[in-house]
Amino acid sequence: MVRKIAFINYKGGVGKTSLIVNTAASLVKRGLRVLLIDLDTQSNASIWLMKLDRWNKINATGTGSVYSIFDPGTQRLKDCVIKDVLEGKEGEKLLPGLDLIPTSFNLVDLEGDYKSDPKRPSYVIFQEQLAEIEKNYDFILFDCPPNILRASQNGVYCANEMYVPSNPDALSLIGFTLLIEKLVRFQQTSASFRTTAMGPAAMVFGIVFNSIKQNVDIEVPKMRMQLRLNQFKQQKRGVSPIAKLMGTQIRDAMVVRRAVTLGLPVFLVGTEGTEEDSVANDYLRLANEIIEHTSSS
Ligand SMILES: Nc1ncnc2c1ncn2[C@@H]1O[C@H](COP(=O)(O)OP(=O)(O)O)[C@@H](O)[C@H]1O
Ligand SMILES: [Mg+2]
Repeated sequence: MVRKIAFINYKGGVGKTSLIVNTAASLVKRGLRVLLIDLDTQSNASIWLMKLDRWNKINATGTGSVYSIFDPGTQRLKDCVIKDVLEGKEGEKLLPGLDLIPTSFNLVDLEGDYKSDPKRPSYVIFQEQLAEIEKNYDFILFDCPPNILRASQNGVYCANEMYVPSNPDALSLIGFTLLIEKLVRFQQTSASFRTTAMGPAAMVFGIVFNSIKQNVDIEVPKMRMQLRLNQFKQQKRGVSPIAKLMGTQIRDAMVVRRAVTLGLPVFLVGTEGTEEDSVANDYLRLANEIIEHTSSS
């Protein structure tokens, strides 16, 4: 069974995109088939994985990006899949098994210009089209903007699990709290459209602490996050009974920023025994922890 996971927090800049790209790549390294879908109009994940030149072509026409399934509506999601997206200078495949559905800047029009039929909200159209390609994958990951507006709703509606990237600060905690509030409301408004085949509506399964500096004690922010998580668990609001702070946290490292410029996941940048290697191992451990963290085992 494919696992569909949204990475989301109501706070920007916490590392959602860095986490999802590197986790996706790590899952592929484990031999799994992964589709990453970029639902953030800023297109960071798309530009990262395609590099600017290739992405520019999609952005110029809109053809092949997520929004094209809504307007003009002539493409389907299956037409937008870029198989084995990572390529080297000569077009050689660098990481077979990692597919991408890219976005372009026009995804923002879904929030305004797009006139949706109340009987068929955009997320229902998206879900029906995703169902056509799901069986090709072990994992489908959604990179979401820091909100649950329409673009993001596509991912939240289809996902059965959510992971919340966080920094050890008060703003991430506020972002998590706001996320649960908005999530609960969205699950109510979308409930009548769901079918049993879709599985349970998405709940938070894990909080991932990211960009952790060495020698900085993060026990207090961790404890605060744990308390909030426990509270939501007791109230049965938006979090899974098995939700937890993930044991793996990702260290702060320059190479994460550099990897974006190079258009590579971290583990393809570094060499063994270096700082690059240590962060790459953080992501690999996180991927393993996510693989094991399921209610169906
Ligand atoms: N572990 C890390 N170490 C250092 N920098 C990081 C790390 N994770 C993310 N960053 C940097 O933080 C910034 C925001 O990360 P990004 O993944 O784009 O966040 P978001 O998608 O939540 O907006 C980027 O410049 C990114 O390179
Ligand atoms: Mg992002």
